[in-house]
Amino acid sequence: KPLVFSGVQPTGNLHLGNYLGAIKRWVDLQDSHDCIYCVVDMHALTVNPDPVDLMVSTREVTAAFLAAGIDPKKHIVFNQSRVRQHAELAWVFNCIARMGWLNRMTQFKDKAGKDRENASAGLFVYPSLMAADILVYRATHVPVGEDQKQHLELTRDVAQKFNNDYSDRIASLGIGVEMAVGDETVSGFFPLAEPLIGGPATRIMSLRDGTKKMSKSDPSDLSRINLVDDTDTIAKKIRKAKTDPEALPSDVEGLANRPEADNLVGIFAALSGTDKAAVIRDFGGRQFSDFKPALADLAVARLSPITGEMRRISADKAYVDAVLKDGGERAGVIAETTMRHVRDIIGFLQD
Ligand code: TYM
Repeated sequence: KPLVFSGVQPTGNLHLGNYLGAIKRWVDLQDSHDCIYCVVDMHALTVNPDPVDLMVSTREVTAAFLAAGIDPKKHIVFNQSRVRQHAELAWVFNCIARMGWLNRMTQFKDKAGKDRENASAGLFVYPSLMAADILVYRATHVPVGEDQKQHLELTRDVAQKFNNDYSDRIASLGIGVEMAVGDETVSGFFPLAEPLIGGPATRIMSLRDGTKKMSKSDPSDLSRINLVDDTDTIAKKIRKAKTDPEALPSDVEGLANRPEADNLVGIFAALSGTDKAAVIRDFGGRQFSDFKPALADLAVARLSPITGEMRRISADKAYVDAVLKDGGERAGVIAETTMRHVRDIIGFLQD
């Protein structure tokens, strides 16, 4: 089975974008893939979180994975910092990635803001750690939202440069694998992992501004639906969501240049497991005053069982910690196998 890796940062509340863009899709991959799902606490450290908040958030995100339906026995769920090989490989990749590559990352530019001098060095080299997360398991498929696309391109660049720089060593050690690069078949140690970005919810937008991504850091809580929101709050946020005054269009093309309408239709499609065309077939020509209550009912029906389950699981700290420990041990075995090869390839002495 192909190997999937993905992660979520334990910072702030998980929201509908995290759920529809990532976690819900992770659940669907479990039958056809071997999956490793990670709470990336080392990534969260780049923004200097309060230690207690970080612990609470790490357990909460784990609870969300489990509540959404990820099976930690068949697959692996763990927090990143338990498996030291992520940090070890990230250092190797810091020496592979070029400053110019990292300089082009839009997420760094957004998160660092105007005061670049004051951003942590960790925030700048964050994509090297992300490449290490994926490649320390030699994962081939990475389900994420659209905003992570550029980081995954960098992951492929890092893998390719490592494979090239060390091609002779990899060949003489006899540990390369054949892989397709464009029309060619080449041999390398790290796979060129493919992003899995698809469906109607690759980029859920703010409920207050259809041109801005729904995000944990938006100061307005009305801009997002949090996984911990209660039924009334979800309904209220959808009722207050910004829209234009027109009715819904009669075909999907009519959603172009109507970002708020497009976003709400996309959310409806993702929650109901259909596509935007199907939603427009049902609601085309109807007013938002009809559509919003239907969307609110659907969101509540889909999210409240998860929210309830998340609360129940979060309360059982011992269970959550046991899942992370067991996942960390299993992940560590795979990661160490990769690192033994990497140390041989790059010339580090080991026993
Ligand atoms: P993070 O924690 O910001 O987000 C977790 C996942 O949620 C997706 N997402 C969205 N999808 C649709 N619409 C939105 N508005 C939205 N907001 C967030 C993200 O695309 C992501 O899939 N760097 C990553 C975490 C990471 C990772 C990895 C991911 C670290 N190492 C290795 C994959 C593989 C991040 O900050 O995600």
